[in-house]
Amino acid sequence: MRKPLKKAVLPVAGLGTRFLPATKVLAKEMLPVVDKPLIQYAIEEARAAGIEQFCLVTGRGKTALVEHFDLAYELEHTLKERAKTEALDLLRSTSMEPGSLMSVRQQVPLGLGHAIWCARAFVGDDPFAILLPDDLVLADVSWVKQLADVYAETGGNVVAVEDVPREHTQRYGILKVGQDDGRVAEVLGLVEKPKPAEAPSTLSIIGRYVLMPEVIAEIARFERGAGGEIQLTDAMARLIGRQPFHGLRCQGRRFDCGDKAGFLEAQIAFALKRPDLAGKVRDFLSRYV
Ligand code: UTP
Repeated sequence: MRKPLKKAVLPVAGLGTRFLPATKVLAKEMLPVVDKPLIQYAIEEARAAGIEQFCLVTGRGKTALVEHFDLAYELEHTLKERAKTEALDLLRSTSMEPGSLMSVRQQVPLGLGHAIWCARAFVGDDPFAILLPDDLVLADVSWVKQLADVYAETGGNVVAVEDVPREHTQRYGILKVGQDDGRVAEVLGLVEKPKPAEAPSTLSIIGRYVLMPEVIAEIARFERGAGGEIQLTDAMARLIGRQPFHGLRCQGRRFDCGDKAGFLEAQIAFALKRPDLAGKVRDFLSRYV
């Protein structure tokens, strides 16, 4: 029997330098796509996979992320008085089960691996999902659910992967691939941000993971990797051979909202899915292109 997947860690302590000056005061994960902040999309995706406990790894100036999921008593009261039921429903979509959301602090952004290590008490001895909220997913089935289903079959670690152009391998963690049926690929090795000529493949890790708790002890070696950061990829690589490790090509589309062009594309793609906006957006787009 596999231990059920009930926990998710969402690291949000990065500096978000690519979105300055917008992210001087506001956390990148609070930026909205259409009308919902990135962090809420991620929480909803995790919930759709049966996740019940959430841990945000935050840093300085990120308190709005936790407050977003708190009760806005006065606002709710005013909306009730004014019978604004539609707005009330939207407000309530941010409510969480009491005690289900916690946050820990990563005082200095030393890298994604270090951010995950900061959540070690929350993880304990359980398998857990990781969602990087700036990777935004448009899919019929939650990507965390797709990963969880493979985990239920294979056990061990499962990461979301995508083929990227070879000239982009330096932006990602790249897989050395073993058996591969075109959907699930066995992972034989992992390299963080390899040069295109040195990349063992073009299959890259995207911001969704299901990991076993043993990864925490591997991060705790605090070895510095690419960019001088404590990399999650390096710690995961040390689990290969000891535990099953697979990459899953998830069904759906991913938008890199940590990047300006990706963020703008996500706005368009999500707006075109909205019946109240699609017509207007199509209309004005035709005037620009
Ligand atoms: P990014 O590589 O996108 O970095 O981090 P960033 O700081 O958010 O953004 P830029 O590159 O400066 O514009 C990927 C994810 O890892 C988290 C980030 O919050 C983001 O969700 N992260 C990264 C941490 O929580 N702590 C770190 O030390 C590094």
